[in-house]
Amino acid sequence: MYCMKDDIADIFISEEAIQDKVRELGAAISRDYANRPPVLVGVLRGVVIFMADLLRTIDIPVAVDFMAISRYGPTPESGGVVRLIKDLEEPIEGRHVLFVEDIVDTGLTANYLLRNLRGRQPASLEMCVLFDRPRHRLIDTDIAYVGFEIGDEFIVGYGLDYAERYRNLPYVGILKPEIYQSS
Ligand code: PRP
Repeated sequence: MYCMKDDIADIFISEEAIQDKVRELGAAISRDYANRPPVLVGVLRGVVIFMADLLRTIDIPVAVDFMAISRYGPTPESGGVVRLIKDLEEPIEGRHVLFVEDIVDTGLTANYLLRNLRGRQPASLEMCVLFDRPRHRLIDTDIAYVGFEIGDEFIVGYGLDYAERYRNLPYVGILKPEIYQSS
């Protein structure tokens, strides 16, 4: 029987290491926002796994909201412009917003969305990302909370997909090259 795990060459970040890091981030956020309850804003879809776990490690009152986007093409030429296909449910004016992402590569998506959120005049706006690929950056991105810095590895799992698969792996794995070379 086919098993998703057969497509994984190696475990890159274990489930335990991820959960430890998420707890660490949640503790830092709980401390930093103790007197100003934040709204956590995520972009569908990759962030849902991280968001669900992160929320449960935060022990102060917190709200959550989501946006969904479709891309015109995250190239430097497009400036990361995306089309918002689902907006936030609630206004964020005057609120403390923590923008949460699963991964930042070029930084184009984050910069575009941070600009969009900043335009709504939140009281504060910071960013939290679980996987950061600083070597892929095309535009400076100020990130207050970073989980792991990673390199060029072809990784999947814990929200990260390849062709919409593997998001549900509880760890981050390196995909076997034959999987992406064959399609
Ligand atoms: C990922 C991630 C960010 C974006 C980062 O989303 O969630 O939104 O890529 O890339 P960038 O820094 O180069 O702009 P993806 O397009 O994989 O969609 P998904 O969340 O549905 O997996």
